[in-house]
Amino acid sequence: MTDRTEAMSPLELYESLMAQGDKVRALKTAKADKTEIDAAVQLLLKLKVDYKQVTGQDYKAGSPPSESSVVHDNGPAADGADDEDTVDPWNVSTTNAKGVDYDKLIVRFGSSKIDKELVDRIEKVAGQKPHRFLRRGIFFSHRDMHQVLDAYEKNKSFYLYTGRGPSSEAMHVGHLIPFIFTKWLQDVFDIPLVIQMTDDEKYLWKDLTLEDCHRFAVENAKDIIACGFDVNKTFIFSDLDYMGSSREFYTNVVKIQKHVTFNQVKGIFGFTDSDCIGKISFPAIQAAPSFSNSFPQIFGGRKDIPCLIPCAIDQDPYFRMTRDVAPRIGYPKPALLHSTFFPALQGAQTKMSASDPNSSIFLTDTPKQIKNKVNKHAFSGGKDTVDEHRKYGGNPDVDVSFMYLTFFLEDDEQLEKIRQDYTSGALLTGELKKLLIETLQPMIAEHQERRKQVTDEMVKQFMTPRPLNFNC
Ligand code: TYM
Repeated sequence: MTDRTEAMSPLELYESLMAQGDKVRALKTAKADKTEIDAAVQLLLKLKVDYKQVTGQDYKAGSPPSESSVVHDNGPAADGADDEDTVDPWNVSTTNAKGVDYDKLIVRFGSSKIDKELVDRIEKVAGQKPHRFLRRGIFFSHRDMHQVLDAYEKNKSFYLYTGRGPSSEAMHVGHLIPFIFTKWLQDVFDIPLVIQMTDDEKYLWKDLTLEDCHRFAVENAKDIIACGFDVNKTFIFSDLDYMGSSREFYTNVVKIQKHVTFNQVKGIFGFTDSDCIGKISFPAIQAAPSFSNSFPQIFGGRKDIPCLIPCAIDQDPYFRMTRDVAPRIGYPKPALLHSTFFPALQGAQTKMSASDPNSSIFLTDTPKQIKNKVNKHAFSGGKDTVDEHRKYGGNPDVDVSFMYLTFFLEDDEQLEKIRQDYTSGALLTGELKKLLIETLQPMIAEHQERRKQVTDEMVKQFMTPRPLNFNC
């Protein structure tokens, strides 16, 4: 690909192709100089080749690229530079100690960067200082957020949708990221929220019983409730419970299933012929909550309430598929806000994952466990000896303790001072780790305290299908 087109999303390439096609036609009509026409035709052909390379489809005027056609399989980029980054709902890995190259991911997935202009606009519309996750680029990518804000400014409300795959009793700190941010969005925009607990998904993917998955869904719901969601505006549901009880929800699942082929899900998710058919049809179940008429008790059967989905970018394949299918079944496309990954203790080459206990700080960890895990496992960007560190300084870009502080330390000035002191060598690795431990220990202890206050009765309330406070 040319340097210029390699940075373009499929949609931008498509738009360039349309414009170039117009240009060629205009030059021909005007009987322009032959060399000028030839050059324009050459560029048109080149764009067509690039388009095919990015989308896997031939360019057709009037038929924009489908979002789920975006390269999904983490195959080598054309320049070979990011062939080590793997990002999908099951795997996140890179060989780069600084973590995944998120700018390249935006291009590969065809989403848009959350730039300063968008952050300023959210601040203006919400009338609140942007959350630290926005100020620091932790939520870094979006789809159609401007449209959501345009509608909100015209007094058209929207709803939030996020979720959790309950694969074990204990959630880790990384799982909190989308929930902390979703809580902020609910507060500042004053809107309803639906939270899907995919106990069915975990049964299909893991070696777990249905009973365990459902139990984990209820246990995880307690951690989610402990994040502070408003019971009058939040509906949490287990797929196993809600799918069977809601005709409207299942109707949408079936509509989606009818409009997505096996070839498409193979392309998007990498399913193979030996995957069970439950996995193959599951994406329709994660897609269905994106449409407001899946929740008639909340939205009174309306299908046009816009949906905004905050999640880490590993979930994007589900929503590329959802956005692709939405217009074909007469529904609006959901908008998205994507976060980066909270890294594993061992380094940003992979995300924090519940399947590797040593990589994670769990919401059930004691102060002592937190201290030991950080001191023993948190990858350091410091130098080998104190003398060397004082002389050359540390590297906060690869230091996991510093990365964790960027997620959780609220004070921007304090964070910047830590960055400078660590870089200059004034702050040692042990001291940086101590700062992190002192930030995490009270944060987790407070979470555990709030979770203790969540009674079975409260869980039942959150998980009962019912009307919510909603004015559209
Ligand atoms: P699950 O349980 O894997 O993850 C729950 C949410 O946490 C995000 N996440 C992370 N964020 C930052 N750093 C990490 N290390 C990290 N690990 C996980 C995930 O992106 C997700 O937002 N299939 C989904 C459940 C689901 C869902 C949804 C998620 C159903 N509907 C709608 C988001 C939006 C799952 O298994 O998530």
